[in-house]
Amino acid sequence: MGNLETFKDRISSRDAKVCIYGLGYVGLPLALRFSECGFNVLGIDVNEERVALMNSGKSGIDHLPDERVAKARANGFEASTDFGRTGEGAALIICVPTPLNRYREPDLSYVVNTAERIAPHLRAGQLVSLESTTYPGTTEEVVQDALATSGLVAGEDYFLVYSPEREDPGNAKFPTHKIPKICGGLTSGCLEAGMALYGAAIEHVVPVSSPRAAEMTKLLENIHRVVNIGLVNEMKVIASRMGIDIHEVIDAAATKPFGFTAYYPGPGIGGHCIPIDPFYLTWKAREFGVHTRFIELAGEINTNMPRWVTDRVIDALNSAGKAMSTSKILILGVAYKKNIDDLRESPALELMHLLRAGGADIAYSDPYVPEVANGLDLESVEISEEGLKSYDLVLLVTNHDAFDYDLIREHAQLIVDTRGVFREASDHIVKA
Ligand SMILES: NC(=O)c1ccc[n+]([C@@H]2O[C@H](COP(=O)([O-])OP(=O)(O)OC[C@H]3O[C@@H](n4cnc5c(N)ncnc54)[C@H](O)[C@@H]3O)[C@@H](O)[C@H]2O)c1
Repeated sequence: MGNLETFKDRISSRDAKVCIYGLGYVGLPLALRFSECGFNVLGIDVNEERVALMNSGKSGIDHLPDERVAKARANGFEASTDFGRTGEGAALIICVPTPLNRYREPDLSYVVNTAERIAPHLRAGQLVSLESTTYPGTTEEVVQDALATSGLVAGEDYFLVYSPEREDPGNAKFPTHKIPKICGGLTSGCLEAGMALYGAAIEHVVPVSSPRAAEMTKLLENIHRVVNIGLVNEMKVIASRMGIDIHEVIDAAATKPFGFTAYYPGPGIGGHCIPIDPFYLTWKAREFGVHTRFIELAGEINTNMPRWVTDRVIDALNSAGKAMSTSKILILGVAYKKNIDDLRESPALELMHLLRAGGADIAYSDPYVPEVANGLDLESVEISEEGLKSYDLVLLVTNHDAFDYDLIREHAQLIVDTRGVFREASDHIVKA
């Protein structure tokens, strides 16, 4: 493919615009990284508000400082809703959502929509990279098909790769460029083009033999997490029955220098990835007559966690001679994990519904989430000494660093801790 050397030259000389489709938790940090590496970056998103926000130099994502967006803006980064500008890009990177539909089947409509809108403007010599998490075969079956309407042939006229995003939102230790990036190309030329693109912005790029292998790698990583979280949640339930502190056990096990990786139990799983991605494989595996039993089992255990925690809340209140139906409960933290503002699939939402269904008068505090709609219609309350004393029970769901745990320990009447924050035994602290 004669275009390969030209493409690589354009990347190394930075004479290449990078178009990123979907400026969310994944697309925006990637756009900023390419901009910081000297590329001209155009972000394309269907959400006009997000586009306007970014063009005004704001990120709209709590852990991504506005200054980074403003600096990128000053260096030429621009956001737009106009897919017609696709022709400007040398590389086109797709970072749009891949949720499940109401039947818990893969919903590739965002990916298909993006590819279909790119197709009329696709030019020979461009590289298309899919980053959205999905089942093996999506790049070669779905994206390639949608782009075929351009009349161009993948691997001959344009480069096609899959390179999964491994972003860990809010993790300061691993910014985008420090996380090794997997890349699988449709042909060896596609792979080489993909390696050149990502190698210009990411410290370590790991080639694999095909887009399918890259798609499966991402799923293995997330399934590994979900299964191990399911396992440790089950261990927590057993330990709790036996009067053993699971966090003490995990800390002790983690001293083994090989063969053990610590996973931590919690109130359930959340976020856009871990509760969803594994079921992409479940769906695709059916086509091959295979059942994904570990995924289903982990899903069952993890999904049951909010109910299990609710039962511990009821038990704790009962021990204090109180009923849930007449209790005031403060939920601490509603984001799906600590130090971020993401509510998607957060177990806190189900917990709040369960507590309210049980008659409790609930309130919540989360420095990252000012309000919660989702049929709950609540606004975050400030934590104070007086405030804490006024609740019958405080339920710690998300262990944000910003919480004053000493204040909480000292003034809450009763605490149910789902994160193992309060390690020392105490009459008024229940671990769940
Ligand atoms: N959030 C994470 O931590 C994370 C980590 C790894 C992988 N992923 C994967 O990355 C993908 C994107 O996730 P996200 O968290 O960034 O989602 P997000 O919802 O934060 O952002 C997606 C963006 O895409 C835009 N969009 C929707 N349809 C579009 C279209 N047709 N064209 C252009 N833009 C469109 C939306 O307006 C939104 O701004 C998903 O497949 C997800 O599974 C996410």
